[in-house]
This record gives sequence, C-alpha cells and structure tokens, in this order.
Amino acid sequence: MADRTELYKQYSILSIPIWYLQKAYGVWQGPGPQLATTAVGAAATLLIVYKLASVAWDLIRPSTLQRYCHVKTGSWALVTGATDGIGKAYADELLNRGFNVLLHGRNPEKLERVKQELALKYPRRSLDVVVADASRTDYPEQIVAEKVKKLPGKLVILINNVGGVNTTPMYQTHEETTSANIDTIFNINARFPIHLTSALMPILRESKPALILNCGSGAGAFGVPYLVTYSGTKAFIEGFSRSLAAELMCEGLDKDIEVKCFTILNTRSAGNTGEMVFFTIDAIELARASLNKVGSPHVVLFGHWRRALQASMMGSLPENYLRKAMVPEMRGRKAAEEAAAAKKE
Ligand SMILES: NC(=O)c1ccc[n+]([C@@H]2O[C@H](COP(=O)([O-])OP(=O)(O)OC[C@H]3O[C@@H](n4cnc5c(N)ncnc54)[C@H](OP(=O)(O)O)[C@@H]3O)[C@@H](O)[C@H]2O)c1
Repeated sequence: MADRTELYKQYSILSIPIWYLQKAYGVWQGPGPQLATTAVGAAATLLIVYKLASVAWDLIRPSTLQRYCHVKTGSWALVTGATDGIGKAYADELLNRGFNVLLHGRNPEKLERVKQELALKYPRRSLDVVVADASRTDYPEQIVAEKVKKLPGKLVILINNVGGVNTTPMYQTHEETTSANIDTIFNINARFPIHLTSALMPILRESKPALILNCGSGAGAFGVPYLVTYSGTKAFIEGFSRSLAAELMCEGLDKDIEVKCFTILNTRSAGNTGEMVFFTIDAIELARASLNKVGSPHVVLFGHWRRALQASMMGSLPENYLRKAMVPEMRGRKAAEEAAAAKKE
C-alpha cells in the first residue's frame, strides 16, 4: 500500500501549481527565455547604476551660480522675506558669493537693521531694501517691481523665499481657520510669489542668464495635518516651478532663465524653532547647500543631503502609514500650542 505522505504529495492541491511551475521552468531553460531574462537583468542593473551615479553626481556637481554674476561690481539678487531665517541666510550667502542684494520685508526698521548688519559684514557689496506686505492683495508685488527697475544694475536672481505660517494659532484644523487666516497664508506663500515672478519676468529675460529660486516644503510633499492651507500652497509652488520651467523650455528660454524649487524641511529659523535630532539644520547651511545645487537638471530638489535622506526615508513608507505616523507628533504640537496659549491668558 502507498505511503500516506506519498499519497498526499500525489493528490495535494499543491501538486497542480507545482506541475505548472515545473513546466514553466522547463520552458524558461530554453535559449530564447534565457536571453530575454539576461537582457532584463542587464537593463535593470544599468538603470540602478545610472540612478546611483546620478545621485552621486548631484552631490559633487559644481554649482553654476557664478554664471549669474555678470559684472565685477556684482549683479543684483532680490530676496523676499529677507529679515529673518532662511531669507536672511540666502541674502548673507549671496553677498558672500559676490552679488548685491535687494532685501524685501514688511517691517522697515527690521529691514534697516538687517541691511546695516550685512553691510558691515560685506562692505564691498551694495544693499538696498524694499517694503511690501506680501499678505495683501492690492498688488504689493508692483512696489517691489518698481524698486527693481530703479536698481543701479541688473537683477539676475529672484529668490521667492517669503512664506510660512505666521498666523496665530499656528496649528489649527481647516474648519477652525478663519477666512482672514486662510487668505494670509495663501497670499504670502502662493499669491505673492507667482505675481512677483510674473512682474519681474521681462526684467529677468532682459538681464539673462537669470535664476528664479522658489521655496517648497516637506509639508507640500507629504501633506501635514493642522497646516492644511500652508501644505496646499507649498505643493502649489512645486507645481508652479515645474510648469514654469517647462514653459520656458517651450519658449526656448530655458538656457536664459533657470528655475529651481527647493523642498525645505526642519531648518532653524524664526518661523521654525522645533528641533529634530540630526535632521534640523541651520538656515545658513541650507542656503549654502541650495546655492551649491544651482545648475542641477532637476527643477524640484532638496537643498541639503540630510533633507534628501530624511525625505527618502519618509517617502519609502506606505502613504497611509506615513499619515498615521504624523498623528501623534502633530496632535502633540497642537496641544502644546494650545496649552501655552491657555497659560498666557
Ligand atoms: N524653517 C523651516 O523649517 C521651513 C520648512 C519648510 C519650508 N520653509 C519655507 O522657507 C521659507 C522661509 O521660512 P523661514 O522659516 O525662514 O521663515 P521665518 O523665519 O518666519 O521668516 C520669514 C520671513 O518672511 C517675512 N515675512 C513674513 N510675512 C511677511 C509679509 N506678510 N510680508 C513681507 N514679509 C513677510 C518675515 O518678516 P518679519 O521678520 O517681519 O517677520 C521674515 O523675514 C518659507 O517660504 C517657508 O515656507 C521653511
């Protein structure tokens, strides 16, 4: 009598797929399928090598920022929201690299203070200021454009830095956010930069080659709770940057005007005082690293390698898991802000 195990093996439901697998294995051993498998393997290996090489090249590629410094006396860069944080750091680093800088802000006294501080540090460079409240809708960008026209030199760099969530409270549900706060967040992060870019485009085209550098955020890439309008505007800025770069290519102007959008995460500034071990960097580090990436073929990119590492770790999580992972952190931030406000009252 046949062994029970043998019988099970013979009639098991598994015997059917095994039979098909054996058949398929037999076919695969033929010369045609072997060649096809080798070709697919080689193509996949080449793709991985190409991807790794392009990541490595991106890390060591020399910056082409200096191609925008047309004259020895310094071409002009405009930095919006330049009185603090990342904007001030961009202004500092551009002066360091030989550019003159037009500082934009909303507070005339603070602008003058920052101007004096930077003028002392870079006595050979020229600095000027322009006051315009980016949260308004009565065309504040025109004030800036008029000032640019009066500069004693060519504007070659526009850094659309102004932005953030400067409303109180910072963390609130979308339902709780007042219409006035939605408008403020939308205007400084989206309306002002796109109108300013449009108003300055003829000037930048005239003074080619020129650079437009926009500030995106991890909030736009991942969608952060309690910062819904802000997150949306940052995703918008990334899309705007990609679209503008593509349009300049259609118009044959992509060599004349370079567009970059840096996805920023955890950078110490007036607007971000939170600390994330290893991943939080200083504004000046971010500004230097971003300016070093000018010339990269990518439009939307990470200014600093720690940013790229952090984002690729977050991006490798399944989307619903990433959302769940944000819940305790963001609930905690909202609760802490509410507790601090209650203590003050
Ligand atoms: N820090 C981060 O971790 C982080 C992360 C992601 C993205 N970002 C982006 O990076 C950019 C800079 O952020 P930050 O953290 O450096 O911000 P920040 O420290 O709050 O500085 C913002 C700057 O914009 C100015 N500003 C604010 N509202 C204005 C208005 N209505 N009109 C004119 N100027 C105004 C501020 O002027 P005052 O000095 O008068 O306040 C200040 O100079 C923003 O686009 C932000 O979304 C930052």
